[in-house]
Amino acid sequence: MSKRENFGTKIGAVLAAAGSAVGLGNIWRFPIETGKNGGAAFILVYIACIILLGLPLMMSEFLIGRNTQANTARAYQKLAPGTSWKWVGRLGVFTAFFIMSYYGVIAGWTIEYAVLAIGNQFAGKTPAEFAQVFTDFSSSTWLPLLWMVVFVLMTHFVIVKGVTKGIERWSKVLMPMLFIIIMILVGCSVTLPNASEGVSFLLKPEWSKVDGSVVLSAMGQAFFSLSLGMGCLCTYASYFDKNTSLGKTAVQVCVIDTIIALMAGFIIFPSAFSVGIRPEESGPALLFITLPNVFQQAFAGAPWIAYIFSVMFYLLVIVAALTSTISLHEVVTSYMAEEFHMPRKKAAAWETGGIIFFGIFCSLSFGVLSGITVGGENIFGIFDWVAAKICLPVGGMFISLFAGWYLDKKLFRDEITNYGESRAPYVKILIFILRYVAPVAILAILLNEIGVLSLLN
Ligand code: PHE
Repeated sequence: MSKRENFGTKIGAVLAAAGSAVGLGNIWRFPIETGKNGGAAFILVYIACIILLGLPLMMSEFLIGRNTQANTARAYQKLAPGTSWKWVGRLGVFTAFFIMSYYGVIAGWTIEYAVLAIGNQFAGKTPAEFAQVFTDFSSSTWLPLLWMVVFVLMTHFVIVKGVTKGIERWSKVLMPMLFIIIMILVGCSVTLPNASEGVSFLLKPEWSKVDGSVVLSAMGQAFFSLSLGMGCLCTYASYFDKNTSLGKTAVQVCVIDTIIALMAGFIIFPSAFSVGIRPEESGPALLFITLPNVFQQAFAGAPWIAYIFSVMFYLLVIVAALTSTISLHEVVTSYMAEEFHMPRKKAAAWETGGIIFFGIFCSLSFGVLSGITVGGENIFGIFDWVAAKICLPVGGMFISLFAGWYLDKKLFRDEITNYGESRAPYVKILIFILRYVAPVAILAILLNEIGVLSLLN
């Protein structure tokens, strides 16, 4: 078998992992959750969740991947041969495949909106027209399919180039680009007239709004946003070299992810408040109905700024989604290449074919297949529910149990300290969290998300 590739630089490793973390979750969910759940109070709860839950889990995934230098399914097999722990890795591969199948559909929509923005199609539209444009587009058959396929193929072409020349090289281009775009957009948004209302709405802590379910949704958001629980970070860490500090890298990824999520808030709320709109919904409705309208109105006095702002915004969303789909694709590609002894290109082609196949059903579930529902959810909704609401927390819970209880403590410490190169006085606390705190907290997220907790109230 050919030698396994590694990321060539530390910054490449950080940017790739941060690219996985920064995605649609940062842009369409975090700002609204913050706005709805107590502004700065929510942000503080969220940061506490990242430190208490996100960091220990991320470090666990990192150490499992880096120690085994294998795809996520093989990693658990290597560390726990002959046990059922291998199913934790396999669940990750399954989850990545599922998430990719529906994430690719929305990612495709962002290309359509970038094209509309470039063609200046938003100019002069009323809010009702924006809603109509979106419904017409998302329920149509061919165009959403085309863009989904284009997006998956873009991901495919990065993946087939390999770890250094594909994932790392593109992360080094896309992440700085994302950062520059987001800074420009924040700059434009916060200098709008009345923008300060949006800023203070985001920053005013309202502790009265923070209750148990808010804490749980902050935890769930932290989890999804950091790409935890499904082997993405474990797979990427299998390309880290021996000198990469796992703790430092994890802190950097968490900081970048949180800063980008906050900045997305500073784009959305100041511009929306400046024209008296209070964005309430998250997800597609925010991205494809509310925001194009907000941008047009906010810069009504200078249509060319509205134009550039909209084009840059959809470019930002494409870039954020692309770095996430690359990481999802890699989980499955590396698994297939290594477990079925296939060349990387062939493994990637199978994965791409599979995603497109399931993606077709997810895409059509907004149109011709909208009649197929389970419990009121269309096919897309079912994929999202199974993958993000069930598989991610279940995966995360088992990863924390594995790292906390099963893994040899010496191996744990050695990996975290790079075999004695650095100090890590916090290892005991980490293990305590992984043993007792994280599994219980994640179980609560799971029960909350599937609605069991609300039944008890
Ligand atoms: N973290 C990504 C986001 O915020 C989503 C994601 C989840 C990506 C799991 C990969 C794995 O959108």
